[in-house]
Amino acid sequence: MNKYIYSFNCDITERDLCKLESRYIFNKEEQNKLLFSDIKVEPSSSAFIRSRLDIISFSEDYSTLINEIKKKDIRVEGFKVEYLVFDGDTTEYADRLNKLRDIGFSIEGDTDYYSPTITYALCYYEGVWYFAVLIKNNIAWHKHKQKPCSFSNSISVNIAKALVNIAAKANKEKKLLDACCGVGTIMLEACFAGNNIEGCDINEKTCNNARKNLSHFNYTANVYHSDIKDISKRYEAAIIDLPYNLFTSATDNDISHIIESTAEITDRLVIVSTSDIRNLIINTGFRISDYCSVSKRGKVNFARKIWVCEKNG
Ligand SMILES: C[S@@+](CC[C@H](N)C(=O)[O-])C[C@H]1O[C@@H](n2cnc3c(N)ncnc32)[C@H](O)[C@@H]1O
Repeated sequence: MNKYIYSFNCDITERDLCKLESRYIFNKEEQNKLLFSDIKVEPSSSAFIRSRLDIISFSEDYSTLINEIKKKDIRVEGFKVEYLVFDGDTTEYADRLNKLRDIGFSIEGDTDYYSPTITYALCYYEGVWYFAVLIKNNIAWHKHKQKPCSFSNSISVNIAKALVNIAAKANKEKKLLDACCGVGTIMLEACFAGNNIEGCDINEKTCNNARKNLSHFNYTANVYHSDIKDISKRYEAAIIDLPYNLFTSATDNDISHIIESTAEITDRLVIVSTSDIRNLIINTGFRISDYCSVSKRGKVNFARKIWVCEKNG
């Protein structure tokens, strides 16, 4: 049995992105919005992980589960128990309340439903009952939506978080570069999750805005004011949110120049584009190892394409 159960939540437009992110964090995709794994990840590092369950006991038989919990002799003040309804669980509401009561009586201590010291969860999935500690996505990263300097072209926070996870493959030690960092939307999420990231942008004002945003939230990360072609330091992975549209207009040449220059300093690229850049990527000696498209809610004709690329050979 795996140690953790993750539950997921995402908009229909972000379903493929959620699956792409899950392949790089967990080496597998969520199924029915659930994923069992031995890999421990902080739910708040992703926009799509709703919660993590740290499994304490499990059994196919409900009474056996309750006896197992009693045997653990758990003594804790201020606990709370939640019932999570997963796909295929037909337990009626009244029965769910009775079961929560059973768990409550199996733990020594007073409950606190408003500010619990610890939250436990009971759930049923595919014939098995689980009792676990529940760690929720604390959504503290929503504060980044109120960053002092924003930019009309910035990608959504959800995409930014996914790009960091795809680039880092859940390894906080990996040295990442945000090659076209803009005002730092991606860098903020990387810093929040404890990733090792630096940024670069050709536009001086934009760089200053990225620095302001980072220091506003007390994050420390280098932002280089430079054309990406002049960066020589090597990184384990680079994220490129390519310029597009009126505000950051870019020709095919500019795009090739950015991809080729970044390809010189890393063996792994995660690129965001609004057009099909398959051939440009292939020409740099990289292969596309994964891909997904994220459409914008309410805008059928606008999609961001995310390309995961590895150096050939
Ligand atoms: C789509 S925006 C990035 C937005 C960013 N992800 C954010 O959230 O603010 C693309 C950025 O690429 C930068 N850029 C364009 N050409 C560049 C180059 N050759 N080297 C570095 N940055 C470049 C632009 O100044 C612009 O800020």
